[in-house]
Amino acid sequence: MAAVQLGVFESLGAAQSPDGLDLAEAQRILGLPARPTRALLDTCAATGLLEKESGRYRNSPLADRYLAAGSEYSLRNYVLDERWCWSAWERLEDALRADHQLLPEDAEGYHAFPEDFFLDFLHGHSLAMGERLASAVDFGAAVRFMDVGGGSGAVSIALCRAYPHLEAIVVDQPPVVAKAAVHIEAAGLGDRITTWPANIFESPLPGGCDTAVVANVLHDFSPERAREILGRVAAALPPGGRVVVLEIVPDEERRSPPLAVAFAVAMIVNTAGGDAHTVSQYREWLEEAGLTGVVVTAIPGRMVTTALEATKA
Ligand SMILES: C[S@@+](CC[C@H](N)C(=O)[O-])C[C@H]1O[C@@H](n2cnc3c(N)ncnc32)[C@H](O)[C@@H]1O
Repeated sequence: MAAVQLGVFESLGAAQSPDGLDLAEAQRILGLPARPTRALLDTCAATGLLEKESGRYRNSPLADRYLAAGSEYSLRNYVLDERWCWSAWERLEDALRADHQLLPEDAEGYHAFPEDFFLDFLHGHSLAMGERLASAVDFGAAVRFMDVGGGSGAVSIALCRAYPHLEAIVVDQPPVVAKAAVHIEAAGLGDRITTWPANIFESPLPGGCDTAVVANVLHDFSPERAREILGRVAAALPPGGRVVVLEIVPDEERRSPPLAVAFAVAMIVNTAGGDAHTVSQYREWLEEAGLTGVVVTAIPGRMVTTALEATKA
């Protein structure tokens, strides 16, 4: 977090410093004393974020792709936003006792983001996840989909790149879709992806879509609220319409994989009722919303995501 905040991965990127920087140069650019510069850069090198050769440091390919500000896949804002949640993790026992997040929340029990919160912090992560979703699930027959709680629009961007005929509507809270519009323009997809500011619990959802993608949204909510969302989404689709859910899902016994199981703890820290819901829960809620033929596809990768597809009868 400190290295990201201090701009290490911008200063040591391939474009800015092709030959890397020695400690004296890095010290001057980062504005740190000598001992902390060495300690920080050596630690980044030892963990694979930097490369160190003949006393010169430069970004590793991983840092260029995932931490430098200029990369489309950058997790920079994700790391900075985690700082906002940090105070809640410090009081994890309190959150566990209270069965409730300790961060400020809005009327829906959702995070009341501070003004400097990035809102599009998942962009780099979700772009990569969207690319995997595009390979795991066939969107060849879809024409226009709504991306419910679509955040920065990353999943829409990835799917529209993979399927050149597809159009998307990113549905999210007004300040979030304002950020999404910037990402959509930057991706050159303004003619195929539009935005729809809405409260997904109350506002009308867009018509004219044959598919709805609900990616990484339902885990933020209790089973009751997640069912409400799926019910509203299914109702907005025509018969034959398809819902695709992308989620972090542990196995039925919640024994593995560890990252997906532990995600339930993160949801206590970060949300009012969110959880690492299981496939059988999602299946039940989809069927309850009038959707049938549930197909479950595991998406390989460290974030242990699963896609569930179902069709409106
Ligand atoms: C974890 S993010 C996932 C974003 C995106 N689908 C992705 O995969 O990157 C959950 C999204 O749900 C949106 N959301 C939460 N409550 C909402 C509400 N009541 N109305 C509209 N969007 C909401 C948030 O603003 C956020 O963008």
